[in-house]
Amino acid sequence: MSPSHKGKKPENVFTPRAPDINDKMYVQRPELEQALKRGLRTNLHLLIHGESGSGKTWLYKKVLKENKFEIFIANLATASRLGSITAEFSDLINSYEEPQKTGYSEIKKGDVSAGVASASVQHQSNYKIGEMEPFEALLKHISQKSSGKPSVLVLDNLETIHSDPKLLKELADIITLIDDSRYAKYEVKILIVGVPGDLRSYYNNTPHLTTIANRIREIPEVSRMTSEQCKNLVKTGFINELGYEIEDFDEIVNHISWTTDKLPQRLHEYCLELAFLGQENGGKITKNLLDDVDRYWLQTSLSASYAIVESMMNERETKVQRRNQTLYSLGLVETEEFRVTDIEEILRKEFPESTVDLTLNISKALSYLASQNNPIIKRSPKGDAYCFSDPKYRMCLRAMLRKRDNVDKVEKISISDIS
Ligand SMILES: Nc1ncnc2c1ncn2[C@@H]1O[C@H](COP(=O)(O)OP(=O)(O)OP(=O)(O)O)[C@@H](O)[C@H]1O
Ligand SMILES: [Mg+2]
Repeated sequence: MSPSHKGKKPENVFTPRAPDINDKMYVQRPELEQALKRGLRTNLHLLIHGESGSGKTWLYKKVLKENKFEIFIANLATASRLGSITAEFSDLINSYEEPQKTGYSEIKKGDVSAGVASASVQHQSNYKIGEMEPFEALLKHISQKSSGKPSVLVLDNLETIHSDPKLLKELADIITLIDDSRYAKYEVKILIVGVPGDLRSYYNNTPHLTTIANRIREIPEVSRMTSEQCKNLVKTGFINELGYEIEDFDEIVNHISWTTDKLPQRLHEYCLELAFLGQENGGKITKNLLDDVDRYWLQTSLSASYAIVESMMNERETKVQRRNQTLYSLGLVETEEFRVTDIEEILRKEFPESTVDLTLNISKALSYLASQNNPIIKRSPKGDAYCFSDPKYRMCLRAMLRKRDNVDKVEKISISDIS
């Protein structure tokens, strides 16, 4: 079927930052879905973690919806801005109810006589006698709205309060309180979502908060998709949804998976650029479009990383571009952590002519890259290896650097000439 018959636009199929799920594009992740489903059947509160763009939000929305849970989402980023989680709960209640019916909205508009400048502090302290405190009011609201259905209160963006002991203590209080009979009667489960996975260990290491760790069940880390899942995503998007033809399917999928490191958000970004070019190409996806897609994707999604890597490259004139070879070799690393010897092995294999019988100072090249203002790699927590300071650098290196055949030189794809 030709693309015009499908009538779908690439931007409605590949949606890198869409918070709402597109059911047709959702790729099953059975292990994570099972783990979350099992967690929902226990009486523990849950923690989902994984790096940004790994699919946490899509995962919980999909599983909760399928299992007929009502979802209510509070944003810990707002809590951080307002100075308390309770303040965010008040805001949520405000957004659910008509302003004139709540005491909180009046205070928010700036009740000068209260004499307290911050709306957030007022949220916490100024509910009147006979009125419920915001947390209980929110639970009550959730329970009423759900009318008998199981419900979950999601606290998303944990990373925004991660280094704030006051807010982490407030979160601990919330988790303790919700199991108290006064709050437990509303039967709301808490699902904490965010980038760091060490919330339980934080509470475990904070003596008076240890009991909290026992109330939280951690879902395995949401990370990369599998090769099979990437393949499904590409197939569903291009063939089923857009009705495009893909030549050299396996080769193209391999390139997409490799370059985007199989991170869902990056896959969507990359496929969107490819779909735009495919559309101009009459609905045909061919591998000779990939170099251009790499450039467009670098420019639209990774331009800041591109500039940083570029600033670390040897000048063109340098005879042996050891640093460039090191950067190229880093892009080939598959593991999270890597040692000097791992990089040296890759580099010797990739650049045999310029390394044979020579001692290479890879250790120096890596410490250079780790000691810049914007370091692309950093020492691992134990200090005996390195890891990328952000996973996007690996993708950037993969999309950006090309080995020039036979001369052991590395070149960058130029993005400056894209209009
Ligand atoms: N299972 C999936 N199938 C297909 N696409 C997915 C899937 N999960 C995520 N995506 C794609 O990745 C994008 C990012 O996913 P999501 O918003 O769930 O990530 P996140 O981990 O919540 O990120 P953040 O930490 O930044 O909030 C989605 O908008 C969607 O395009
Ligand atoms: Mg999210």
